This record gives sequence, structure tokens and C-alpha cells, in this order.
Amino acid sequence: MDSFEMFARTDRVAEGWYWAMPSRELRKGQVKPLNLMGKELAVYRGEDGKVVALDAYCPHMGAHLAEGKVEGCEVRCFFHNWKFDASGQCTEVPAMPKPPRVKNESWPVEEKYGLIWIYTAKEVRQPVPYELELGEGEVDASLGNTFVKNCHPNVVLINAIDIQHFHTVHHIPNVFQFETSQPHPNAIHFSNLAKAPPTSWVYRFINRFYEKAITYVLTYWNGSTGTVRVGPDFLHFYIMFALRQGPGGTTQGQTVLLTQKRKGLLWRLVTPLLLWATQQVGNYFAAGDTKVFQTIKFALKTPVKADHAIVEFARAVERLTPVEWGVGTLPGSPPAESLPLRLVQGGGTP
Ligand code: FES
Ligand SMILES: [Fe+2]
Repeated sequence: MDSFEMFARTDRVAEGWYWAMPSRELRKGQVKPLNLMGKELAVYRGEDGKVVALDAYCPHMGAHLAEGKVEGCEVRCFFHNWKFDASGQCTEVPAMPKPPRVKNESWPVEEKYGLIWIYTAKEVRQPVPYELELGEGEVDASLGNTFVKNCHPNVVLINAIDIQHFHTVHHIPNVFQFETSQPHPNAIHFSNLAKAPPTSWVYRFINRFYEKAITYVLTYWNGSTGTVRVGPDFLHFYIMFALRQGPGGTTQGQTVLLTQKRKGLLWRLVTPLLLWATQQVGNYFAAGDTKVFQTIKFALKTPVKADHAIVEFARAVERLTPVEWGVGTLPGSPPAESLPLRLVQGGGTP
């Protein structure tokens, strides 16, 4: 592998779901600007509670729609008050009896785990990332930290499958042996198959909590959002690292803590504690490599046998589908194409 088409490239975006913002940061009737991986969006929540993501710049003269206001389930541009519905269709122009047939781009949106997710293509072909053991259904979740790393999301995710550095940086014995599989065309799954070597009483003690292997299971979606499953057989912890590309080759991350949905009063008390404990496990993962991520100039120059999980991951990322996304707004891109000066047809006289 010498040159990659997708892997660790800051000028490519893969089709998929990406975290946008916490659900609680967008109340009914609010519209907010969002730069999602180079694309400017206006995201709003209508009176029906549904979140809508439109291209930011009004198809009339380019005002940012987040300067406008939400009316019912639609958004009205601040500048000349054109109104757009959730599909991006223009539904009203104050100066015209019938609005012109103008449509803004609208992107698929879902809300899950207390986050708003946006899909980078028109037709949704993938599920929102989930932890395979918890399944795609409802789970209990809480949001952990947000963070920025000075490298590509692929590189951040590599950290959790980089077996060599477990030993050198985190001083964890080398007990990892990954089996990889592809549960979805856009996901790669790593599952540890080994137990600790029975060379000390500590390892023998640890092994008692695991029937087959020490649970360390990861699923990476779009090379961008990863779930981690750890813990003894009787209690699994689930952490999601929702990542996306940020400006200047950075990663913008949001940690999500997950557990299965359990009913009853007791669980209503225990679940927050469990999620808190999960947060501590997540913090452990996040600590330790901070400095490397500030200075790394990642290149997979000399992969060796111990790096095989990383190579598998790179191959999986190479198979992702690139989409046209924020490329037009990256610095150094050519100026916008000039448009023919022709009046858009509407029902009345403009
Ligand atoms: S720029 Fe939005 S209505 Fe004119
Ligand atoms: Fe690490």
C-alpha cells in the first residue's frame, strides 16, 4: 500500500452518519449554523420536534439561513424572507403570489444517544453507528466529553487497535489477538480472542472473569465512529467515540456512554451509576496518548505483522464510498462557478 484513496485523507469524506451536535443544544424553534466537515449547514428544530439540516446559504442570494428564523416546521431567510420546508423546497416568497420552483439541499437527519446525526448523502444506505452486542434498538446513553485531536479520525481510531503501543505506552501485557470481520459494508469489527498469559497470579485472577477471552471488542463505522466493549463477562461497558474531521486535519470527537435499556425503579437508580463508571473507563482510554496526537504526522510507512489490525482497518477505509461534501468550501478551492443570469420561473411576476 503506497498511496491511499480514502485512508487518513483530509480531502475526502466517506458516505455515512456523522455526529452533528447534542440534541439538547437545539430546542424547538431554534436554528443554528454548523460547519460539518467543511460543509456549511443551517440546522433547525421545527415545532414538530424534528431536526432538519439544510445547506446554509439561501438559494436566492446566499444569506446564511441560520440568520433567519423557524416558523412552524419551516425556516425563513432573514434577508428577503423566503421560506423553505424540511425538504429544502421554497414554499413562500413575500413579493410573489406563488413561490418559484427553487430547492435548497436537505440532508438526512436522525437523533440517537442524545446526539443529532447527519448523513453525507441523499439516500440513506447505512444504520446510525451502534454497538453490536447492544443492537440497533433503544439503549440508555449519556454524553461524555467532547475533544479535539490534531490528527485524522482514522488515526484516532487506530489507537485502540494499535497492539504494540498498548505495551509501550499503556504498559498492558500483550494479550491481544484480533479476529476481524465486516458486519456491514461500512463497518469493521475487531474482537480479541485471547486470555491473559497465566504467568502471574494477577493475570490468573483476571482470567477468572472471562470464560473465553478478555473482552475487548471494537466496531468502527465509516472509519469515523468507533464503539468499544470491555469488562468482565458479567458486566460489559460500552463506549462510543463519535468522530468527524475538523478544520486543518483535526478530529472533533464526542464520547457517548452506552448501556442496555433496563426497566424498573432499581435500574433507574443504577443506570446513571453504570454510565458514570463507563465514563471512567472511557477516560482511561482517552488518556495517555495526548502528546503523540499533537505532533504526529501519520503515515503507515512500515507496517509489520503486529500491525495487522491496522492494515485491515486501512483496507476497510479504502472500501468506503467517497462523497462530494465540503470540498467546495475548503480553502484554496476554485471560485464558485458563474451562473447564467436568467430569472427563475415562478407563478407570478417577480
Ligand atoms: S437571500 Fe434569502 S431570501 Fe434573499
Ligand atoms: Fe492509547
